Amino acid sequence: MNNLSTDTEKWAKELEVAKGIAYEAGEIMRKYFDGDQQLEKKEDGSPVTIADKEINSMVIKSLSEKFPEDGVVGEEESTAEYGEGRRWICDPIDGTWAFITGVPTCMFSLALVEDGVPVVGVAYDPFLDRLYYATIHSGAYCNDTKIYVSDRKLEDGVIAIADSLSKIRKSKFSYLDNILSRNLKTVPLNGAVYKGCLVATGRLVGYLSEYINTHDVAAAHLITEEAGGKVTSFSGDKLDYKKSFKGAVFSNKVTHQDILDLLKD
Ligand code: IPD
Ligand code: CA
Repeated sequence: MNNLSTDTEKWAKELEVAKGIAYEAGEIMRKYFDGDQQLEKKEDGSPVTIADKEINSMVIKSLSEKFPEDGVVGEEESTAEYGEGRRWICDPIDGTWAFITGVPTCMFSLALVEDGVPVVGVAYDPFLDRLYYATIHSGAYCNDTKIYVSDRKLEDGVIAIADSLSKIRKSKFSYLDNILSRNLKTVPLNGAVYKGCLVATGRLVGYLSEYINTHDVAAAHLITEEAGGKVTSFSGDKLDYKKSFKGAVFSNKVTHQDILDLLKD
């Protein structure tokens, strides 16, 4: 047996459970997409809907039944803090603004992290019915077809950036000026997971945002790296999921240093 099949088998149960949860989350997203979303504001001013809460509770219930020893860190509800050992990191709806405004770039995201390293990741787009998934050292897939990043350079592709114009303008990094002066093509879509998956399938050559959170990044990180890409912090360091962080750079690997250089004056 080679290492690839060993790793695939090692995480087979976790992946199956995560995929089932993702499809269930997708049903909940579709149920509320055009209905009464019971929109509320959280303490930090960000939006939350009944769908975010219902999905997060369902994730906790399902994982507590299947893997009672594991902690779940969800954006809306958790059974554990970040830390050593096994943690399921979930964003019930990534791209809540998109969800609220009827833009189908919102996705479900769930990753299993072991000692700070993502080992299983699933991300589901319930509108295009695309299930992206990966287990460590075993490649990345979309609906069972293997996916790969592109090999294009920055000038020959499209790079995604954060979706908040006010935050981009306030940024301490100079990437907007650098992107504009090099005449690079950009897309400011809402939804970090959506953009990460577009890097993983080769549609984008990179994605950078200093505002995205640990729960936005975990699954898309593994999917992108297993598709041949690279994901780091803004300083180019490995991301450590034992604690929460902000900001990440996704790339097809070819563009990674070039994207990090965009952040400099
Ligand atoms: C947000 C989205 C958004 C990104 C924010 C994230 P949420 O996640 O991914 O595109 O710009 O930084 O926090 O709040 O919709 O889960
Ligand atoms: Ca969210």
